[in-house]
Amino acid sequence: MKIISSIKDMQLEAKKQMKRGNTIGFVPTMGFLHEGHTSLVKRAREEDDIVVMSVFVNPLQFGPNEDFDRYPRDIKRDEELAREAGVDILFYPHVREMYPEDRTTTLTVNKRVDTLCGESRPGHFDGVATVVLKLFQIVLPDRAYFGLKDAQQVAVIKGLVEDFNVPVEIVPCPIVREVDGLAKSSRNVYLTPSERTDASELSNSLVRAKEAIRSGETSASKIKRLVEEMLQQTVGEIDYVEVLSYPGLKPIEAIDEDIIVAVAVQFSAARLIDNVIVTRSEIPIGV
Ligand code: PAF
Repeated sequence: MKIISSIKDMQLEAKKQMKRGNTIGFVPTMGFLHEGHTSLVKRAREEDDIVVMSVFVNPLQFGPNEDFDRYPRDIKRDEELAREAGVDILFYPHVREMYPEDRTTTLTVNKRVDTLCGESRPGHFDGVATVVLKLFQIVLPDRAYFGLKDAQQVAVIKGLVEDFNVPVEIVPCPIVREVDGLAKSSRNVYLTPSERTDASELSNSLVRAKEAIRSGETSASKIKRLVEEMLQQTVGEIDYVEVLSYPGLKPIEAIDEDIIVAVAVQFSAARLIDNVIVTRSEIPIGV
């Protein structure tokens, strides 16, 4: 596995691979890798000739009171996991090169951000969109792989590539879960043992919501209530429970199109998110 930290070197390497006729699959990450990330690498390995992973904790997507300084980092461990997972090139840029002091442009995302995490994290998706567009210009991938745990992020990035005609295929990948259903996340390490037990209620409530929709429940507000009632049993504090169209992320009353049920719960030192997407084809006919 090659490790590259200079932007120019990464671009030269990407162009070299393109000239050789190799396709590039890209897995952008903020490091502290877990199975969620390595599952993206696995998918990229199946579909692309060369797999590039970036590790960059992007300061632009953290608010002033968020956990940028505390965000877990362990590049040596990430290198090992990336190598084992089959990454060909690990791109690990320096923050000063990514964001020189005299930079002039930052993106603003106008839609799909006034709800879910976007609502409580103003500017977060501007930071995500800015860094993802920069990384795409540096890595020059054919396909980029994103976990659906951050389904709002996937919706925003789909909008970004459409709006800017970026020739990268966005590949949304399923959420990877622990045995009890908890979605894998770098932030799970901050849960206390009792919070860790309670945290499985996030996925349990979403499974129940999906079952109810598949059994014919069409009221978005009833689904929302069902999930809220389950989450109220946990020690965490509900940040949001939403039932929205997907990927448009618009409020709905009747469930009759592709939708997302999304939750966020604040525990003592970690805010966890999870979601389930239910497609129109899973909703019983006649609804
Ligand atoms: O999902 C993440 O880890 C980050 O938001 C991403 C896409 C790497 C951008 O910093």
